[in-house]
Amino acid sequence: MKTKIAVAQGDGIGPEIMDAVLKIFNANDVQLEYEFVEMGKSLFDAGHSTGMTAAAKEAIEKYGILFKGPMETPKGKGVKSINVTARKVWNTYANQRDFRSLNGVNTVFSKAGIPINITIIRENIEDTYGGIEHLLTYDVAVGRRIITRPGSAQVIRYAFEMAQRKGLKKLACAHKANIMKLTDGMFLEVFQEIAKEYPDIEASDIIVDDLCMKLVSKPEMFEAIVLTNLQGDIVSDLCAGLVGGLGFAPSANIGDNISIFEAVHGTAPDIAGKGIANPTALLLSGIGMLRFLGFSSKAAQIENALLYTLEQGVHTGDFGDKSIPASNTMQFADAIIANLGKVPAKGAIEATADVEMKSHVAHLSKNKLTITKGIEEEMVGVDIFVETGDMQPNELAAIAKKQLTYNDNFDLVMISNRGTQVWPTGSIYTELVNEYRVRFEKKEGKTVTQRELLHIAADFSQDAKVCSVEFLMNFGGKRGYTLAQGQ
Ligand code: NAI
Repeated sequence: MKTKIAVAQGDGIGPEIMDAVLKIFNANDVQLEYEFVEMGKSLFDAGHSTGMTAAAKEAIEKYGILFKGPMETPKGKGVKSINVTARKVWNTYANQRDFRSLNGVNTVFSKAGIPINITIIRENIEDTYGGIEHLLTYDVAVGRRIITRPGSAQVIRYAFEMAQRKGLKKLACAHKANIMKLTDGMFLEVFQEIAKEYPDIEASDIIVDDLCMKLVSKPEMFEAIVLTNLQGDIVSDLCAGLVGGLGFAPSANIGDNISIFEAVHGTAPDIAGKGIANPTALLLSGIGMLRFLGFSSKAAQIENALLYTLEQGVHTGDFGDKSIPASNTMQFADAIIANLGKVPAKGAIEATADVEMKSHVAHLSKNKLTITKGIEEEMVGVDIFVETGDMQPNELAAIAKKQLTYNDNFDLVMISNRGTQVWPTGSIYTELVNEYRVRFEKKEGKTVTQRELLHIAADFSQDAKVCSVEFLMNFGGKRGYTLAQGQ
């Protein structure tokens, strides 16, 4: 019986490259049945604010797999990118991108004889992509970076499972926990915890800036890397550059129920309709989808035919040896079809045994968001963010201390500006903006309530413009907030 999937051809070059890829799949007798669904620009234009029809949504939710071409988000119409919405709505929490050197695609590394084979797993929902940003004053913008323990666990567990399934020996967690101690610190802590369940995989961690340096100098050090969303976004494009650019970058958005396979590049409006686009990235995404669905040997046959074809120097206009005439999209696909069954001299893919999709689904369905319960909490204080005009730190401290006359359970412990402590001690050389953070903490042995803390903020607002309030909490006896620079 064929496996049913939803296919959205996309906009611009989408239909051209999708036709080419499905032609290759059909020629290799891939046991898939496609339900074509309507998504993308024409749907936005027709007034569907989600960019898809109800029938498309239903089919995707029923089959759990969407194979999609690139889609255009109309600019200036106030609609959200369908690509981002789809990832969030269907909780595809892991973005997997497999980057490997391709024969015939020249890069500095291929010329130096250094093969690249790196998988990046990027958390796909959280981090700054929540888009929760505020102007606290006209001059001061803040964004919330949301990292959660259950969300981190989901993507990290997926990364270990993926590494195990692919037979990888190493998985690295890249982060900036030295600076972002609570957010990236949490991601790293969860990684180290889950790593204990996978003793066969060598788990290590690396600071993300060091990772970038090493990726461009010694990329062969890495097999797979798991990262938070924004850092993962940047690092995965860096890796695309290592193997020849976005035209060769496949992408899978994996969730428990729905997974989306697509190329990383966009709709290429400049060449749309000309039939000359390069279908390689979408084909590689499709090959990843076949593996995900368990059609491992079909995936290997197609990938070998692609590598063999590239090795022969066949190329579309956007890459390759200029002395060999470029093929158009369909000629390129036909060349791959003619080479099905052939194996490249370099980098041949070994087919692993086919596995039933059920086994993937079984491990993923164990990967639900799990909320931690029963942790002891203690309310310890409050950070009040205020806008002050031209006030100096000691003037602000005098006003802040007035609050203590209403409630002497607290101490004023610190004032900071742009995260750097400026009171009780600081440097005259710290330059100031007109927004400060004022920290009150409860005195030793006292207990405080949220109500009392909100009262401080309310009273404070009579003397200074309160922009934001953040509670200070301890969890399980550990501080749940960071100290200011210099505190
Ligand atoms: P783009 O990736 O479409 O194009 C950038 C350049 O790369 C262009 O010169 C294009 O001709 C070339 N290019 C891209 N894919 C190619 C291929 N397969 N073969 C040959 N050349 C290729 O990026 P751009 O111009 O920033 O975005 C165009 C549209 O695509 C926008 O509406 C954007 O929102 C959308 N987009 C959609 C994505 C998705 O559906 N996942 C991802 C990125 C952009």
